[in-house]
Amino acid sequence: MPSQPEPSHYFSPTPGATSARRRITLTLPEGRLLEFDTDRGVFSGDRVDPGTRFLLASVELPEGARTVVDVGCGYGPIAVTMALRSEQGTIVWAVDVNERARTLCAENAELNGVGDRVRVVAPEDVPTDLTVDAIWSNPPIRIGKNALHALLEEWIGRLSPDGVASLVVNKNLGADSLARWMAGRGWTVDRSRSRVGYRVLSVTNGGVHR
Ligand SMILES: C[S@@+](CC[C@H](N)C(=O)[O-])C[C@H]1O[C@@H](n2cnc3c(N)ncnc32)[C@H](O)[C@@H]1O
Repeated sequence: MPSQPEPSHYFSPTPGATSARRRITLTLPEGRLLEFDTDRGVFSGDRVDPGTRFLLASVELPEGARTVVDVGCGYGPIAVTMALRSEQGTIVWAVDVNERARTLCAENAELNGVGDRVRVVAPEDVPTDLTVDAIWSNPPIRIGKNALHALLEEWIGRLSPDGVASLVVNKNLGADSLARWMAGRGWTVDRSRSRVGYRVLSVTNGGVHR
């Protein structure tokens, strides 16, 4: 059988779509105007995703958070916002499988003046012993249930004892069943922040490390 070309998704490690860069803006609820360079082959390159905007309007970093992460950073709207809202000395890990997204995220951190506190890495380059105080993520639901569960197992397991993960999930893409699955793992899940179409799930692991 002839081999089929690899389908190109926003979560492909090396997107096949021809590059076509553009610049978009985001005004945060606190009034700060951010700029982002985006491209084809990355998630929501034409505008900041409404779920991402809802997450950024809903969450604050816990006081004293020093190591935080954006799981699935894309071109960086969440990672850059975390860095801008964080205390001096905080490191923001921005993790993505998509190398085009990683390049954009690193450039966008520089563009918005926080290049010194954002570390953009591929999943395999995350230190094995990394523990984090906060996770903000618009997670890659479309990678499939098993892969998503494995990703969350890994990252929720990295939370420090007081750490909190804030995940925005589209209700039509299974926010409530994901919340039930996480509660079934023994994690505490609060799904009170909800807007038409989206939920922000706040998750703690009760201090149980991997
Ligand atoms: C829904 S998008 C969110 C992107 C960005 N945070 C935003 O809000 O625009 C999810 C991202 O997760 C990335 N991703 C997929 N699988 C991943 C994995 N195993 N580890 C880290 N990131 C992954 C995708 O490449 C994609 O950029």
